[in-house]
Amino acid sequence: MHPLISISNLSKTYESGFQALKNVNLEIRKGEILAMLGPNGAGKTTLISIICGIVNPSAGTVTIAGNDIIRDFRATRSMIGLVPQELTTDAFETVWATTRFSRRLFGKRSDPAFLEKVLRDLSLWDKKDDMLMTLSGGMKRRVLIAKALSHEPEILFLDEPTAGVDVELRKDMWRLVETLRESGVTVILTTHYIEEAEAIADRVAVINHGEIILVEDKAELMRKLGKKQLTLELHKKLDSVPNRLSTYGLELASEGMQLIYTYDIHADRTGITALLADLAKSRIKFRDLKTTQSSLEDIFVTLVKEPT
Ligand SMILES: Nc1ncnc2c1ncn2[C@@H]1O[C@H](COP(=O)(O)OP(=O)(O)OP(=O)(O)O)[C@@H](O)[C@H]1O
Ligand SMILES: [Mg+2]
Repeated sequence: MHPLISISNLSKTYESGFQALKNVNLEIRKGEILAMLGPNGAGKTTLISIICGIVNPSAGTVTIAGNDIIRDFRATRSMIGLVPQELTTDAFETVWATTRFSRRLFGKRSDPAFLEKVLRDLSLWDKKDDMLMTLSGGMKRRVLIAKALSHEPEILFLDEPTAGVDVELRKDMWRLVETLRESGVTVILTTHYIEEAEAIADRVAVINHGEIILVEDKAELMRKLGKKQLTLELHKKLDSVPNRLSTYGLELASEGMQLIYTYDIHADRTGITALLADLAKSRIKFRDLKTTQSSLEDIFVTLVKEPT
């Protein structure tokens, strides 16, 4: 199947001479939820802005359903809903008026029932006649989402949709993204909350210093890079790891009361059976044991860590 969005050899150097994107290649499939992770200044907003036609690329091309974002700007832009990172709203407009205006901007015929549904889904219906300046920050963000959805886009960009919003709205957002996915909308979001990517993304792209350093199915990513740890709560304190156990790379923690074994869950042999047998031979008894798996957060931190 053809990708919905095709980004090839995309570079951006701002007028200041700063190169924000370096030869980015990425294909986005219809109906997927792609989370872009990366530290501040990595180039996420620049990439989104280029796809949405707000920033001009210095080199490379982007096509959406075969249409070039520059040559066929009107066609591509009308397919996209964008929730920008920065809150920009017209203070004196009402929620209803601004949402209706956004829809008209794309030449869509008026559809009050649809807009009502969008506002209700975002818990904004009882605020529909309120002026934007009277809304809280989180509500303003909901309004931006309503505006982005007002023209029924096939693709939705969410640039840090949950920065500075409360837990409830964050969960609402996740539910909304899920509903959109069910209706076939492709969602690209940036986030600093790795837990968010872990919760809703199908694929994860990591950007650092203007380069995509990794794109992977979320499950595959966690499978590939995920390490698991086995922690044994010991009966008696150990002063050091016995020689017999030296090959396991064990770590002694909790003042000698814990032994930690790190293993690769996908290796042919995890070594656990042998380790437990060797522990018994060494007469090391344990009261309890637990295993923990590294999260996307651990993986991410490892990836963007500067080489030292
Ligand atoms: N208009 C501009 N002129 C010059 N440099 C810019 C401009 N816009 C962005 N940059 C620079 O490009 C780099 C990438 O910025 P961008 O906003 O794309 O990062 P980001 O990944 O979205 O970061 P954040 O997580 O903080 O939102 C930064 O170093 C930024 O200073
Ligand atoms: Mg940004």
